[in-house]
Formats: sequence, structure tokens, C-alpha cells
Amino acid sequence: MAGRMIIVSNRLPVTVSKREGKLSFQPSAGGLATGLGSFYKETGGVWLGWPGISLESVRGREEEVRAKLAELSCKPVFLSQRQIENFYYGFSNKTLWPLFHYFLQYAVFDQKLWEAYRRVNRQFCEAVLEVADPDSTIWVHDYQLLLLPGLLRERLPQASIGFFLHIPFPSFEIFRVLPWREELLKGLLGADLIGFHTYDYVRHFVSAVRRILGYEHQLGLISTENRVIRVDAFPMGIDYEKFARSAEKPEVKQEIKRIRRRVGDRKVILSVDRLDYTKGIAQRLRAYDQLLEKYPQYREKVVLILVAVPSRTRVEHYMLLKREVDELIGRINGRHGGFGWTPIWYLYRSLQFPTLAALYNLADVALVTPFRDGMNLIAKEYVASTPAEHGVLVLSEMAGAASELGEALIINPHNLNQMTEAMKEALEMEPEEKSLRNHLMKYRLRRYDIHRWAREFVEKLKEIKEIQQEFVARRITPQILKTICEAFRLAHNRIEFLDYDGTLIGFAPRPEAACPDEELRKLLRKLALLPNNEVVLISGRDKETLERWFGDLPLNLVAEHGIWIREPGHEWEMIEPLSTDWKEAIRPIMENFADLTPGAFIEEKDYALVWHYRRADPELASVRARELKDALYDITQNLDLVVLEGNKVIEVKPINVNKGRTARYFLDRKEYDFILAVGDDWTDEDLFEAMPDKAYTIKVGFGVSRAKYQVGSFREVRQILQELAEENA
Ligand code: UDP
Ligand code: G6P
Repeated sequence: MAGRMIIVSNRLPVTVSKREGKLSFQPSAGGLATGLGSFYKETGGVWLGWPGISLESVRGREEEVRAKLAELSCKPVFLSQRQIENFYYGFSNKTLWPLFHYFLQYAVFDQKLWEAYRRVNRQFCEAVLEVADPDSTIWVHDYQLLLLPGLLRERLPQASIGFFLHIPFPSFEIFRVLPWREELLKGLLGADLIGFHTYDYVRHFVSAVRRILGYEHQLGLISTENRVIRVDAFPMGIDYEKFARSAEKPEVKQEIKRIRRRVGDRKVILSVDRLDYTKGIAQRLRAYDQLLEKYPQYREKVVLILVAVPSRTRVEHYMLLKREVDELIGRINGRHGGFGWTPIWYLYRSLQFPTLAALYNLADVALVTPFRDGMNLIAKEYVASTPAEHGVLVLSEMAGAASELGEALIINPHNLNQMTEAMKEALEMEPEEKSLRNHLMKYRLRRYDIHRWAREFVEKLKEIKEIQQEFVARRITPQILKTICEAFRLAHNRIEFLDYDGTLIGFAPRPEAACPDEELRKLLRKLALLPNNEVVLISGRDKETLERWFGDLPLNLVAEHGIWIREPGHEWEMIEPLSTDWKEAIRPIMENFADLTPGAFIEEKDYALVWHYRRADPELASVRARELKDALYDITQNLDLVVLEGNKVIEVKPINVNKGRTARYFLDRKEYDFILAVGDDWTDEDLFEAMPDKAYTIKVGFGVSRAKYQVGSFREVRQILQELAEENA
């Protein structure tokens, strides 16, 4: 990987604001900016993003902003007031944010907002192009820039592009609602590596890709027509040492003292979030209210410090939440408070590090109870900061962080009683137990900190580039094609083995629909009529279909992987006699699985049974297919049968019949000095294996294969055949 790292996110780690004509530069709040900010300083790269102020507000002073940000290695992407309205508040925070956090009822679907989102993503793309080289490493962050990887890929095909999503990726059932779902997924797939906080989000993502775009995945690799993309989980960490050692810092010590003086010997419950409806703040307040109601012994003995950082204040649901929280706090303080004791201390502002760290150090309990949260760094920062025998974390199971912080008191934020009881349990927990729990969590947070997180992501990005290179090395280049054509021209005895489905034609929902077009038939005829040349169409299809489609062409036809052979001008023949008695045992099993899988059906060939599931729901079908395979393996063990997995089919047929054996039958008849074999699925691997070293073998599509070369689709195969046909024309 060459060049410096380019980081791109909607928000820069520095926010610019203007007061009385004076510009000020403050650190930004939110997990992305704070988390990545710590790692970024070491990369020596550049960070592109919006400086948090409108273009109109800095008009004429852009250079001043630019220069100041350049000192911090940041480069601003200025957005106009309108863009902020439609792209930032709009599509990003009124459509994607609620939807991805399962607040479907808050999501707005508006074409105008979508257009703005596309336009701003393009603007970000132009900004990146100003600083990028063709082989730059570009790391794009978060839901505001889902289209950017795709846009960058078009302009910088060789670049290493990583993408990390800092929020949850919702289940398919939620994601499918988006009218622009296809374009968003395609945009994301411009990246080489796509990272999420948890495996659940990875699962949701690959499932959406498969169901919406039809791309399969295997071991974290998604194969598109022309590239492989890695998808993986990288749970974001924190700058552990910074928090663990915070109490040693004089400015933090001072803050601890100052706050302690105010709190006295009361226990401190802490709540810190951006004021966001996903964070479950109101529900948390209700649980606190219930605690004081149900357990009056805590009155006057505890104080809840509630820090709510203003966020996205122009979005209606944030305004409504602000009102709700204000009212609730007023009500609770009014109901339980007394002279000298206010149950909730409410800070509606962003805190600087010394104060925040002081609160983390002081708090006996931290309440982190979001309804949904991609990760939640507050939880991690608290655990890192609190003295081990002192603090207790109460954590929502809906936060990504819950998968790493299992020793916290885990609660369901919708269960008010459970939350109240967890608060009580936390307040009463013995120091030994706290220490035990915190040590385990601290250990994990120290090991997998923000530096490791970033390092692993960058390493995985490098790795996927290498994997892609291996695929590229096998791709047929114009040079290789020239060599093949040359060999073809010079040869005296030539033969080509061509699979049909997926190799010469695309897939159709029903097998009978994938009939050859006139262009293909013409091409095959032309090729087969060349002197000293034989074309073998070697297919798993039944002989009636092949006869109907190709019977009039001068081709060798092989049906059912080699059970039937028909040479030009001859009748169909069998290489050796076979029995079909086994079908009676296998058919009922397949029928049973077809009944259980809407869209699946059975195709009966003379000597094979095939279970097709291309038209079935992909998730269900993949489970059923695995079950069926298991069942079939069992029952065929002592029979001379083999269970084959093809492209969305499972086929049972006699064991000694395969494309390899059939190919050998042809090869044994004559000495060929040009041999070509092309295929796309498992059944073609037998064909490749049977080929002598000198043969040219080509696999259509990605994936592990014995073939020497690889092409992206059947269209490329047709082009190659066209070139061969013209070589001798
Ligand atoms: N934060 C801050 N000042 C505050 C409150 C929070 O700098 O007054 C930081 C906090 O340290 C944390 C981040 O904001 O790193 C919040 O990240 P989290 O993942 O918890 O939530 P997000 O805001 O990203 O949804
Ligand atoms: C979350 C998002 C970030 C965002 C941050 C603050 O952490 O994942 O992308 O920057 O919240 O939100 P804001 O709208 O102020 O940028």
C-alpha cells in the first residue's frame, strides 16, 4: 500500500463554530471522532470531512479555516446550509440513522433528501480525488458516506478502499424497506474491505447483499461479477491507557476534587450520551424514578449526573426528546428532591476530557442503556477509567459493546423493572465482586484497544488486496488470450469442452428458460465448422433438452454429465449401461425437502435426480440445502451414487459418471494438440482435473478452482470463443 492514509468521515474530529464573528475550533463529540481521533494522530495521514459549520457562515474566510485545519492534518469539505439540511439532518439523520437503529417509525423517505445525499457523496468523492493517488489507501467511515466507496472505485480502480460502519447494520427485514437499498449496497461494495462492530451486523449485511443483489459470500468473502470483497467484524476499542491513567493527570485530579466536594458522600450514578432517542435516556430516567420510589432508602443518598450532549438539534425527534427529558427531570426532581438534595444533576452540553474523566472516576454506577447502539464507547471508557473495586457498569444488551463486556450487569432497556433492580444491585455490590468483573473487562479492553482495532483493519485491507491480486493473476488478459488464439491457430487437432449453464449463458429462474439465443447458436456453429476442430457441449442437462436446442448443430453433445453422448450425425449412446433403481429411494427425500421449501422443485433426468433451489428464498434454501445434502450423504453411502452440489442445485447420480471421465473418453480417441475446457461449477472441476497439463482451463466466476484461468462471466467466454472462431475465418 502506497501513499499516506486518507481518512474520510462526514464529521471532522474538529468542529468549527462562530461566535460574535470569531471562529473557534473544538474537538467533536461522538464515538467516531473521539475513537478514531486517538489513532489517527499516528498515521501521518489526512482526514477529510465537514467542519460542522455552514459554508455561508464562513464565506470569505474559507482559507482561514483551511489553514487552521491543515495544521491539524484535516481538510474541510464545506457544505452549504441547504446541503446540511437535506444531506446531514435529512437523509443521514432522518432516514438512515433511525432505520439502521430499528426506529422505522421515525424514518422519512423523501426523494429530495436522497438526491442531496447522492450529490454530497459525489462532492466528497471530488474532495478525495484532490489528495489521492491512484494507489492510495482510503478509509471511509459511517452511514453518511455509503455511496462514496463505489464512487471512488469508479475513479480510482486500483486504490485500497476500506469502509467502516459505526452504527448497527439492521436485519434484512428492516433494510429492505429502503427505496434506494440497491444503490446503497452497490455503493458500499466499491470498498475492498467492509468492517462492522459485531458479527451480527456482518450477518445482516451479507444477507442483505445476497437477497438484494444476489451476490454469494463464503468465509467472509463476497464475490461480485468482477471482484472479491472482504467483510468482517472489528469491534472498535478505545485509547485504553488514556482513560486508565486519567486519574494521574493534575487537571483530572482537580476536577475529581471539585466534583467530590459538591457531591459529598453521596453515591454517584452517571449517564452520558449525545441526546439521541436511540440512547434510551427517558427510559433510564423512569427507572431512576422507580428506584427512588420503590427503595426510599436511596433518597438523599444518591445523585444521578445526567450529561446530555446536544446533537442534531434541528431534527424533530431530537427536539421532542429534548422536551421529554427536560420535563421528566423536572418532574423527578420536583417529586423526590428536597432542601439540599437534587436527585438529578442535568448538564446539557459537551464536556471536555478532564471533566468527563473525573466523572468516570467518581461514578459508583454508570448507566449505559441504549435501545440500539452500534458499539457505545462510553461504556468502554467508563470501565477503563473506574478504579476496579469501585464502579459498576449497567449495560444494555442492545449495545454492540455488550458482546465484549459480558461481566457488566446486562439488562434489556425495554424492561423497566429489570433496569431498576440492576441499579439497586449495582449500588449494593461488594468491592470484591466489582473488582473481579472490572478486571476481566479491563483486561479485554487493554488488549483490544483502538490502536489494535485500526491496525487490524489496515492489515486486513492489505490482505484482501493480495487475495484480489491472486484472482487478477488468474484472469485472462489480452496477452493470454493472444497466446491461446495463437496456439489454436497453429494446432492440427483441436477440441473444446464447453459447459453450458453459467458458462455460455446466464442463469434463469427455471432451467427451461435458459435456452440458447441465436447469437450463441451461430457462434457454436461457426466454431464447430472450423477444420480440424471439435466442440463438445458437456452439460448436466437431459438429452431431450440438448437435442431440442442443439440437435441441428455439428456439435458433440454430452448429457447428464456424461451418461449420454451424441456425436454429430449419430444417435444418443451410453458409455456404459446404468441402473435407475436407486431413484425410488432418493425421490421421496427430495420431494419432502421440496415441500418444505417454497420455490424448490425436482428435475428428473434419465439417470439423475436434481433438486433446484434457485427460485426459493435464499436464506431458507441454504439451510434446507445443507440438511438435504446431509440426508443424501447418509443414504447414498453404500450405493454407487454421488451427491453433487452445482450452482443452486443438488444432484444425485451414479458415482462413476462425471464430466472428467467423459472428457477422457474423447481425449483417448485422438492426439489433440489444442485442448480448451471451460466451466463454472463443481461438476466442471472434474473436467478440469481430467485435463492434461497443456490444456487451457478456464473457470467462470470467482472461487477456488483447479482451472488455470478465470473470467468474470459467460459474456467473456463468448468473446473468447468469438476470437477463436475468427482466428481461422
Ligand atoms: N464525549 C465527549 N464529550 C462529552 C460526551 C461524550 O467527548 O461531553 C465522547 C465520549 O468520550 C465518547 C463519545 O463522545 O468517546 C461517544 O461515543 P459513543 O460511541 O458512546 O456514542 P455516539 O455518540 O458515537 O453515538
Ligand atoms: C455517531 C455516528 C457518527 C457521528 C456521531 C456524532 O457516533 O456514528 O458518525 O459523527 O454519532 O453525530 P453527529 O451527527 O454530531 O456527527
